[in-house]
Amino acid sequence: MTSAYKITEHKYDMIVVGAGGAGLRATFGLAHKGLQTACISKVFPTRSHTVAAQGGISAALGNMGEDDWRFHFYDTVKGSDWLGDQDAIQYMCREAIPAVIELEHQGVPFSRTEDGRIYQRPFGGMTTHYGEGPAAQRTCAAADRTGHAMLHTLYQQSLKHDARFFIEYFALDLIFDADGACRGVLALDMAEGTLHLFRAHGVVLATGGYGRAYFSCTSAHTCTGDGGGMVLRAGLGLQDMEFVQFHPTGIYGAGCLITEGVRGEGGILRNSNGERFMERYAPNAKDLASRDVVSRSMTIEINEGRGVGEHKDHIHLDLTHLDPKDIHEKLPGIAESARIFAGVDVTKQPIPVIPTVHYNMGGIPTNYHGEVVQLKNGDPDAVVPGLYAIGEAACVSVHGANRLGSNSLLDLVVFGRAVANRCAETIRPGELHRPLPADAADKALTTLDHLRNSNGSLPTATIRDRMQRSMQSHAAVFRTQETLAEGVRQIHEIRESFAEVKVSDRSLIWNSDLIETYELMNLLGQAQVTITGAENRKESRGAHAREDFPERDDANWHKHTLCWLDDDGNTRVDYRPVHMYTLDDEVDVVPPKKRVY
Ligand code: FUM
Repeated sequence: MTSAYKITEHKYDMIVVGAGGAGLRATFGLAHKGLQTACISKVFPTRSHTVAAQGGISAALGNMGEDDWRFHFYDTVKGSDWLGDQDAIQYMCREAIPAVIELEHQGVPFSRTEDGRIYQRPFGGMTTHYGEGPAAQRTCAAADRTGHAMLHTLYQQSLKHDARFFIEYFALDLIFDADGACRGVLALDMAEGTLHLFRAHGVVLATGGYGRAYFSCTSAHTCTGDGGGMVLRAGLGLQDMEFVQFHPTGIYGAGCLITEGVRGEGGILRNSNGERFMERYAPNAKDLASRDVVSRSMTIEINEGRGVGEHKDHIHLDLTHLDPKDIHEKLPGIAESARIFAGVDVTKQPIPVIPTVHYNMGGIPTNYHGEVVQLKNGDPDAVVPGLYAIGEAACVSVHGANRLGSNSLLDLVVFGRAVANRCAETIRPGELHRPLPADAADKALTTLDHLRNSNGSLPTATIRDRMQRSMQSHAAVFRTQETLAEGVRQIHEIRESFAEVKVSDRSLIWNSDLIETYELMNLLGQAQVTITGAENRKESRGAHAREDFPERDDANWHKHTLCWLDDDGNTRVDYRPVHMYTLDDEVDVVPPKKRVY
């Protein structure tokens, strides 16, 4: 390495970046398969954002009524507005059942039915009989703290296996060999201020979403999409970034999540007339239509003057008709959040809510083994050797244009396990590490040195605030050419202003100013490809609702967007086909049709 910085080198078979649900499931899966594995995380594992997941994890266990994984498959394809890859969706929904049973055996304290089975609640868009039957009770829950319960169990499993954790290490950049294979990560030990090169046969990115590109989101402040940022800097493209999910029920003002499980347990959305307006928009599913549909309906109510509150700019979520005993048992967490962040007693008053950014359907493109894929020499599924992505950081794509609630915790464990299995098939434990070019880390070190010594006129927080406000107003629930084009212009300009960033702390020891600047750099890249993809896609599909192109246009747009960002800040867009095939004949492809709930 040609560097003035001292770097400590570590060698493992595999590196996992991120210790949320996906990262932990991959970490102990890899260790269990005999691969020497290190997991790098910028936060203590049990503080990862999975801890905030509330409502549950979907799996067609059929504990509380008839169910079948094929119904789950159909609902997920429909929920994705036909942008999901059907081979991957089949894989996820079929694997859901053993994956949840495995979690139960590992110790996740699920809520229970009277006869001792895992408790399951209804969630949006989950039906039976291919949309023709009654709502499915498919979402397995540990009260309304399912993510918390899962994350702790997964961390315990990781400790039980022989995996090594590097906690409060921040991944700066990916390291590639001369053949373009990913062979490691350069990271900063935030406490000691030391640099570490983690060499491996492969790197799994489990770094979560980039919700913090927006002003108001349910995501933790740590959700800065660091994996996606590193992938863009490595010259690789991200997929379907225009599809950003707004959760219908973020607390008005605070943004904290109020689980869809509230509506699953009977909660009702009401406008200023007290009307249950979802009956008009989704006559069958009502409040349990899929999230994009509910968020749009709420926004229309507000835009047409039927919002609640002084400014008529939000909606009421009413639980007052529910039995307080049920609320206490099944929804204790949201009762507490509503009291603290909205000042309401949910047994007596409605919760003020508003659609709030919650999830990124887009991300690092992968196949269902978790291998990162790119468009290369005409091959849309060309694997990038040594690079893997899972969880919200990835776009498999199982969620397509809109994710169904409770399919995210599922995605984490199914693909965390899948990537471990894949690596066990393709990597021999203890294999010799291939040599790295002498300059393999030079670009990463130049970036570090540049950012650390940045002495411009704009504090990181100022640029971040501009980006968040611009994304909030230009890439919103409803979009038009005018707002998107202006958003593209603004975000481009804001990203260029990053050249003027000012980092005040020059040290490397617990330099939160530097870390936030890295995070901002990661967010800015993803904000730019998000708004570019949104401006480029001239149709409405799933969460991408264009007022000027209100219909889905399969003839022209039934394809995944890929978007690259070059060093000069210019974007390039291309496409990958949607996988309209399944893995085998256990289930049939669902052909596109009109999506009604
Ligand atoms: O509403 C919720 O509990 C969120 C679940 C999810 O995003 O999957």
